[in-house]
Amino acid sequence: MAEKRQFQAIKGVRDILPPESALWNRVEQTAREVFGTFGFAEIRLPIFEDTELFARSVGQETDIVSKEMYTFVDRPLELPAKPTMGEIPGYIEAIGHLMHSGAIPKSQANVERLKFLTDEIKELYPLFEKSVERYADRLLVLSYAIEDFQLGPEISLRPEATASVVRAYTEHGMQTLPGNVKLYYMGPMFRRERPQKGRYRQFYQIGAEVLGSSDAPGIDAEVIEMLLAFFERLKLKGAVLHINSIGDKNCRPAYVERLHAELQKVREQLGADSQRRIETNPLRVLDSKLEHEQAIIEKLPRIADHLCAECRAHYDEVKRQLALRGIAYQENWRLVRGLDYYMRTTFEITAPGLGSQNAVCGGGRYDGLVELLGGPATTKGIGFAIGTDRLVLSLQESGVGEVSGGPARPAGGLDVYLAWFGAAAQTAAVGLARRLRDAGFVVELPAVEMKFGKSLGLADRLKARHAVILGEDELAAGVVAVKRLADGTQQKLAEQDLFSHLRAARDF
Ligand code: HAM
Repeated sequence: MAEKRQFQAIKGVRDILPPESALWNRVEQTAREVFGTFGFAEIRLPIFEDTELFARSVGQETDIVSKEMYTFVDRPLELPAKPTMGEIPGYIEAIGHLMHSGAIPKSQANVERLKFLTDEIKELYPLFEKSVERYADRLLVLSYAIEDFQLGPEISLRPEATASVVRAYTEHGMQTLPGNVKLYYMGPMFRRERPQKGRYRQFYQIGAEVLGSSDAPGIDAEVIEMLLAFFERLKLKGAVLHINSIGDKNCRPAYVERLHAELQKVREQLGADSQRRIETNPLRVLDSKLEHEQAIIEKLPRIADHLCAECRAHYDEVKRQLALRGIAYQENWRLVRGLDYYMRTTFEITAPGLGSQNAVCGGGRYDGLVELLGGPATTKGIGFAIGTDRLVLSLQESGVGEVSGGPARPAGGLDVYLAWFGAAAQTAAVGLARRLRDAGFVVELPAVEMKFGKSLGLADRLKARHAVILGEDELAAGVVAVKRLADGTQQKLAEQDLFSHLRAARDF
């Protein structure tokens, strides 16, 4: 037998156990209900996509794409298993066929490598005649060289889902649907970040996107209204909405240029990260949390003073639309967000109890993204994603995350522990358990017969509300004994009375 080994979850990922999972279900169910009333429908998306999809949309220079994605190279199913030395020539030939059929990417590097290896193979056989040793050496070199083929497309675990929604929108021709397309999603995302409280490598988002031909500020405000309605339904306390406008392709480049020039002047006073960002993405310098950079950043030019007339009007109208919905907000000129696809409206919601990772939700408008990903240029978009892990944490910290149930127990607790004694009683118990479950009761039925004391002891430890006892005597009399475990009171009831008795106990 193989040596025993115990495993632990990988760094930065975690299990969500009962009873906490019940809170997650409540959060997700509430999102479905609230989003549904705003006319949103669920889209279920793949967990992995072409790396290029994220690189193009989130942005090559962003932290997410440049260092946080889990990326791997896929390979065609038809490719033979890794070859032994003798199989190398056949393997290279197979790669040639698969490249021809398009199953292996016909990249320039692959084409050149194939040509090199095919030539090498031709020289290999004559070598065998001359020196077996040199032949073996050559084969070894080839075995390394074949490792360099890119055997399939580059794929990444999704770090976010907006790119996937936009891809799906275009792929399924949703622009032909009437009105705005309103979609929501929930599920795991993956980013290779330094794990800490509220920051994981596999984390969960609940997100929503509106895609359509209109960029009316009323849409921005309604999306935010829905988000706040959801938080309110969950009784999340202390949520603060931060908003900003980061302009569009008409006005932002000039602002970024200004910012770049000003940053150059203070370059030496900034840390290494900010210095790098002056060149790669100057806007991101505004995100810095470094204490000593704050006073410097406060003096930098602000986008609000550089918006074009259209962007200014749009932003003013977003604020008016928020006000007419009675939504309070804080303007934050430094809210630029860490993804490249945004334009105009950006927003974040912070919540208490989360330490430094206090953004429970982020979102914004991304009008050019659909076009960038090959869809119609007329389609505009706006959306958000909530960090479910953080939302749950904040609910728990503020004392509204209570759920019933215990470790590895069903959420509402156990209604009935059905103790049976004797083979005939087991048959009756199986039938009774089925009828109770059909009626919606949570029932634990022991799989093997146990001694009376042990069985009732287990019922206690599982915190069942009732033990229903079925032995030969009860069977003969056509009744069951029902014991309320909270106070030990016991009575005998016929089956039809049992149901109403249990129901009454539940409603209490
Ligand atoms: P994001 O700001 O990158 O935006 O992520 C949204 C939220 O996901 C964050 O506010 C945070 O609550 C949560 N989150 C992000 N990274 C982690 C992590 N490592 N651990 C735990 N929670 C995390 C987006 O993803 C955009 N797709 C949002 C969007 C949708 N914009 C328009 N539509």
